[in-house]
Amino acid sequence: MVPVSVVVVLAVVVLMDFVFDFIMVVVLVVVVLVVLVFLMAVVVLVLVVAGAAVHHLLHPNDHAASLGNAGGTRLLTQALLMACEQHGHDQEERRVLSGLADALPEEVAVLLRKTSAGLLSSAQMTNVPTVPITRTSSSYRKELSILRRALRVEPNSPDAVLEAMSDFGQELGEAGAWAKFAGGSKAQSLLAALGGAAPTGRGPPEVLEIGTYCSYSAISIVTGSSAQVTSIEIDPILVAIARGIITHAGLSSRVRVWTGHSRLLLPLLMQRRQQERPAAPWFDAMFIDRWGTQYPEDLDFVEKLGLLRPSGALLVADNVLRTAAAHFLWRLTTDKVQQPSGKLQRIFASRTVEVNEVGDASDVDWMSVSVTLRGIPDEQALVREQVPDELEELQRVSELMRLRTTKAGSFVSLAEIQTEIPQLLAGQCFFVFLLTLTLWDRRRLCLNLLGLDLHDDRCVEEQEVSIGDIAS
Ligand SMILES: C[S@@+](CC[C@H](N)C(=O)[O-])C[C@H]1O[C@@H](n2cnc3c(N)ncnc32)[C@H](O)[C@@H]1O
Repeated sequence: MVPVSVVVVLAVVVLMDFVFDFIMVVVLVVVVLVVLVFLMAVVVLVLVVAGAAVHHLLHPNDHAASLGNAGGTRLLTQALLMACEQHGHDQEERRVLSGLADALPEEVAVLLRKTSAGLLSSAQMTNVPTVPITRTSSSYRKELSILRRALRVEPNSPDAVLEAMSDFGQELGEAGAWAKFAGGSKAQSLLAALGGAAPTGRGPPEVLEIGTYCSYSAISIVTGSSAQVTSIEIDPILVAIARGIITHAGLSSRVRVWTGHSRLLLPLLMQRRQQERPAAPWFDAMFIDRWGTQYPEDLDFVEKLGLLRPSGALLVADNVLRTAAAHFLWRLTTDKVQQPSGKLQRIFASRTVEVNEVGDASDVDWMSVSVTLRGIPDEQALVREQVPDELEELQRVSELMRLRTTKAGSFVSLAEIQTEIPQLLAGQCFFVFLLTLTLWDRRRLCLNLLGLDLHDDRCVEEQEVSIGDIAS
């Protein structure tokens, strides 16, 4: 007879062996599964990467399309388009545009495909899709609506196109949205300034514009004067919209729009002009219309590349209050050139004009109007003064706001720009006791600090005279 204790011990041993085997099998199964999943993941990854590479080789345009989405790479698409345009690679340009269209909302894509196919005649542009406008829309709804409005009027009637765009600007203003183009008193002041410019002595004045948007200002310049406009726009979709409107207005021979960032495009434009007309490659006037903190970069080009006629050329800048062009205004009023005799002479004579936003007469902004007094003989002769701390701070805050506006999906409301910047401009520049003054007084003091003279009334004729005065 086997003792019970031995039986129990044997049973426990057998049971443990069984449990141990069971655990081992489970562990083995889990390990095998993990290895299998890992191997499958590797295989899927390899297939995806290889597939994408093959797809890219077969469809290079789709690569350009994907560039349209991401902020950094979008710049690459813009640079690519600029290079194609500047070097006359039409076919490549069309491919990049149609690739870009694939990555965009359908209504914008329709427009870009038409552009890339070279269909810019107004008849072919008419069925631009209708899209509802919302205040925060970031998918070119506002701009597509401007295009639709412009295309509804008779072809070859620039005045009617301007009126249609302006009416739409009013509607936008009433809805609390920023029309973004220089209509109303801004357009009047711009034309008055150009009217006061010195004669060129070589035919119609040539105007360079930075920031085409939908081409309102470019069309109003050529409609209200004999000028020719070269306008540059960083956003290829806006370029397509602007070209559509300009073609419909019958002004393609007087307004030329180029795609590209001013930083890359201006040196190329100047290179080309230097080859074509080495004796006088400069422009007679320039209208800068983007975010004011960026204007010093444009001023660098004016001073170093000789973009503007050495004396008597006009430099008009919009949004200098709204977007607080602090560094720019400082430089306009203080940059000097040292003459061989050692004497310091100012490069510009400037004044500021009070203007209103299109669609909201109560919404005040400033334009600066400057006249070149002399060219810069060589870079070392340029004398630049240190920017005061208050203006430095103002520039910093405005630049932060600009960066917010350029981030994908972010939106800076008109109200924010309207309230924050003027308050900063007033608040940062002066001592606390000045806050007891009216806003009007503070602005005047701020301009005095900058050495600028604010034109009290908004009388355009009087302004014309004053431009002549500063030029002489
Ligand atoms: C205020 S809108 C211009 C409005 C236009 N001048 C008008 O009054 O009809 C500014 C435009 O400048 C463009 N822009 C901004 N920075 C630029 C740059 N560095 N080079 C070219 N275009 C630029 C923007 O894409 C935008 O369309």
